[in-house]
Amino acid sequence: MRSMPHRFSLRIAPLLIAGLSGAHIAAASCAPPPEDGTPQWRPALHYTPQRNWMNDPNGLVYENGRYHLFYQYNPLGNDWGNMSWGHATSTDLVHWREQPVAMHASATEEIFSGSIVADTRNTSGLGAPGKTPLVALYTSAYKDGSGHAPGTQAQSLAYSLDHGATWQPYAHNPVLTLDPESKQFRDPKVSWYAPGGYWLMTTVVADAHVVKLYRSGDLIHWTFLSDFTLPGVPHDGALWEMPDLVPLPLDGDARRIKWVMIVNVNPWSIAGGSGSMYFVGDFDGRTFTPDRVAPAGSDPAQFRWVDHGADFYAAGTFSGAPSVRPVAIAWMSNWDYAAKAPTTPWRGAMTLPRELALTTIGDEPWLIVTPAAAFDAWASAGRPATRLDDLSVRSTLTELPAATRGIVQRITLSLAPQGASRAGLVVRRSANGAIGTKIVYDTATRTLMLDRSQSGEANFSSAFSKQHIVNLPLEHGRLKLEIIVDRGSIEVFANGGRVALTDLIFPPRDADRIAVFSEGGSATFGELTVTRLADSGDDNHVCASRQAPPGGR
Ligand code: FRU
Repeated sequence: MRSMPHRFSLRIAPLLIAGLSGAHIAAASCAPPPEDGTPQWRPALHYTPQRNWMNDPNGLVYENGRYHLFYQYNPLGNDWGNMSWGHATSTDLVHWREQPVAMHASATEEIFSGSIVADTRNTSGLGAPGKTPLVALYTSAYKDGSGHAPGTQAQSLAYSLDHGATWQPYAHNPVLTLDPESKQFRDPKVSWYAPGGYWLMTTVVADAHVVKLYRSGDLIHWTFLSDFTLPGVPHDGALWEMPDLVPLPLDGDARRIKWVMIVNVNPWSIAGGSGSMYFVGDFDGRTFTPDRVAPAGSDPAQFRWVDHGADFYAAGTFSGAPSVRPVAIAWMSNWDYAAKAPTTPWRGAMTLPRELALTTIGDEPWLIVTPAAAFDAWASAGRPATRLDDLSVRSTLTELPAATRGIVQRITLSLAPQGASRAGLVVRRSANGAIGTKIVYDTATRTLMLDRSQSGEANFSSAFSKQHIVNLPLEHGRLKLEIIVDRGSIEVFANGGRVALTDLIFPPRDADRIAVFSEGGSATFGELTVTRLADSGDDNHVCASRQAPPGGR
C-alpha cells in the first residue's frame, strides 16, 4: 500500500455538508436501542426485519401514497419456517417502516409467496363504498388437517379494505388449484393486462420448469392461457420460482413494447445457487414467445441474468408504482447458504429497489438495471461527497484519502484500464489490507469480477461462492461504475446498468477504506466520487424497521 500522492485534490462541497444535518435528525429521532447480535452487518440502506428470518419480497404494490413490501417471514425464529407475510411500508423506497405481520401461518396452512394489486374498479366485488380493495393472490402451502394432502400448493386470495393493515382470507379459498393437486404450484404474480382488459397471472410448477399463465375478470375465477417452458434445457433438479411478466418499451419507445419474462431459478444460477434469469419476447394476451432461446445443452452463461452476483433472488416488480420504469426488489441472499448466513437477530435483507429498462445493444434488447431514481435522488440530495481529481495508477495499489473512509457509501467513477491487464477497486478494506472486497476489470478477457474471497467472514458455508464474473466490453475505453456499499453488501452497477452484481459480505466494522489498483500497466480513475450515505452511528434502517402503528410511514 502506498500513501496518497499530493496531486490528489480533495473537495468536500460545503453545501453538501450542510445537508447532512437532515440525515442526522432523521436518524436521531428514532435512534434504535443498542442491538445484540451482529449490528455490524445490519444494513443501513436495505430493508431487514427487526428480528427473524425473511426471504422473498411479496405483494409489492404502491397504493394511497405508500409502497408496500410484504415478504416471506418467520415470526417465530431466525430460520425458514412458519411462513407468513411480514410487512413494511415506505413513502420514498428508501426508508422502510416495519408493520405488524400481515398474514400468519396457521396450524393447517403456511402463506407462501404471491402478489398484490389494487382493484380500483372493484372487479372482485370485494370493495366497500369508498374503499378500494387491495387483493393478494398467494400460495397456500397446506398441512395436515387442511383437507388437502400435506404439501399441496394452491393459489388463494385475501383482501384488505384498510390500505394493507388487515387482511381477510376469501371465503372460498383456494381460488386456483391444479388437477391433480400439485406440491410445486406456486408464486402467483398478478398484473392488469390493459390491451385485453383482464387480469393476468403467472405462476409456476416449480419442478417441471413451467410458467403457467392464467386470466381473470374478477381475480377470483381464473382461466388457463398457456405454458412457458424450455424443453431440453438440462438443469435437472433446478426449480423455477417467482415468475414475473413485465412489459417494457424498447429504447424508451412506447410504440415498441417488448415483454420480459423474469424466472427465478434455484439452483443453476450464473453465480451458483439461486438467481434471476430473464427472457425478452412478445406476449399476445395468451402466449409469451421469447425472441431467442439458448439451444438445448447450454450452460447458464448462455442465458440472460437480471444480476450476475450471488445474492439476488425472487425478484419481482411493484404493481402501480408511479415511476415511468418498473421498480424491482429482490431478496438479497441465496438458497445455497441463506440458512447459514451469520446474522442475528435477523436473517435476510432486500436489495435496493431497481428500475428496469430495455435497451438495444448490438442488435438485441438487453435489460438495464439501475438503482431506483427515488434512491438516486435521496443519495444525491445533500449528502456529503468527496470528489477526487483524475487519478492515474501504475502497477500499484493506492489507498484513497481518509475523507473517503466509510462503510455505507456510494462510489461512482469512470475507469479507463488503458495499458493495465487488470484494474479496479478494493472496498470495505481493512487497515492492513488483509480484508477487502475487490471489483476488478480484466482487459484481456473483457470481464468484470466481484471478488469477496477476502471480504471477512466467509467460512459459515462452503457454498458461499467467492468470485462472480460477467462479460462486459468497455465503452469508449471506459468502464463506468456505481457501487453501493452497505454494512453487509455490495451492489455494482456497470456501464449505466448494462450489468449488475450483488453480493453479501460480512466484513469487520473497521474495514472502512477504499483503494484503487492496476496491474501490468497504468489505469486512470476518473470522476471518482464517494458519497457518504450514513454515519457509523446512524441506523436509519433499524429505526425505520421497528414496529409502527398502521398509518405510519
Ligand atoms: C422462493 C420460494 C418460493 C416460495 C417461497 C417459500 O424463494 O421457494 O417459491 O413460495 O420461497 O418461502
